[in-house]
Amino acid sequence: MTVLASPAVAPASALGAKGVRYVELVEEIAAVLEGEANQIARYATVAAMLADAFPQFFWTGFYLVDPEKPEELVVGPYLGTLGCLRIAFGRGVCGKAAATRTTQIVADVHAFPDHIACDSRSESEIVVPVLDRNGVLIAVLDVDATEKDVFDQTDAKGLEAIVARIFGS
Ligand code: SME
Repeated sequence: MTVLASPAVAPASALGAKGVRYVELVEEIAAVLEGEANQIARYATVAAMLADAFPQFFWTGFYLVDPEKPEELVVGPYLGTLGCLRIAFGRGVCGKAAATRTTQIVADVHAFPDHIACDSRSESEIVVPVLDRNGVLIAVLDVDATEKDVFDQTDAKGLEAIVARIFGS
């Protein structure tokens, strides 16, 4: 009898095209940043490579926990149109992700009561908390799209895998 070992990761067929792209992207970003310790370079490179990875992505970037004001986010490296500069923990989608340390998916930003509108073309959004290797919140990754309902659990898992690999290890 042949006993098949369980695969350590889901086979490509179970991931779908978007899931496969995220698996590739984690490796591509890690390869580009190999040996680069500068945090600004790391944030900027992730933002740039994400912007290029999926055509629906309209704004990709980071809001960083302000070391001077630990309950406030300040804008960090991003690609896209002008983003607001500061967001208090608990405010908007980014502030909710920071306060709860959980990924937020918003299918329609216009229906999200406390959404902070930086650009009216933004229609849906995902925000992922970024933890360092000690589990301390250092930033949130914000990705906006120009269409409604772009983000799902594949994006959540894919983006969480990217920030864990790049900032948490
Ligand atoms: N929409 C965000 C604010 C940041 S911009 O999208 C770049 C929010 O409500 O948290």
